[in-house]
Amino acid sequence: MKKLMITAVAISALGAGVAMADGVVAPGDVKFEDGAVAMSLTGVPGDPSKASELMDRKFGNCIACHQISALDLPFPGEIGPPLDGAGSRWTEAQLRGIVSNAKMTFEDSMMPAFYKTEGYIRPGVAFTSKAPEGPLDPLLTAQQVEDVVAFLMTLKE
Ligand code: HEC
Repeated sequence: MKKLMITAVAISALGAGVAMADGVVAPGDVKFEDGAVAMSLTGVPGDPSKASELMDRKFGNCIACHQISALDLPFPGEIGPPLDGAGSRWTEAQLRGIVSNAKMTFEDSMMPAFYKTEGYIRPGVAFTSKAPEGPLDPLLTAQQVEDVVAFLMTLKE
């Protein structure tokens, strides 16, 4: 009886990792066209006020490589170009594509793909030689990508 219950819990936990809420495009289903992603990943408009947190170290860590004057976050890196004016240089679809998987726009980019879970050399579970269990989570959720894109669109020249 106990064993049965553990199995049931394991199965429902697995399901939770795979199942996507209604209307959310799964990382493997994102359609790129010349690097751009025309369709919203969630159908819910992004909230640009979330960007400050999402672009800081705890989440996307965009500032490790980019300067973003509008956010006034400390110690920006210079590996990538400043993001000021990005909303004038790129369309929303192009920005969604760059944030989801920059390699679809910039071949060999060192910018991490923030909405991707496949095609990696899979990292092991920390400090063990074991393969990770279950699917990897993307670095940002679909809605977090939309929030960042909405913010980038406000960065006009
Ligand atoms: C490891 C460094 C790195 C990180 C982290 C990073 N980027 Fe980038 N990004 C780059 C580089 C380098 C480029 C320039 C294109 C290229 O050659 O790859 C770039 C280009 C871009 C561009 C196009 C710039 C322009 O206007 O020409 C946007 C937009 C962008 N990044 C957004 C982001 C966002 C948003 C995040 C965080 C969620 C992020 N980047 C995190 C390295 C990074």
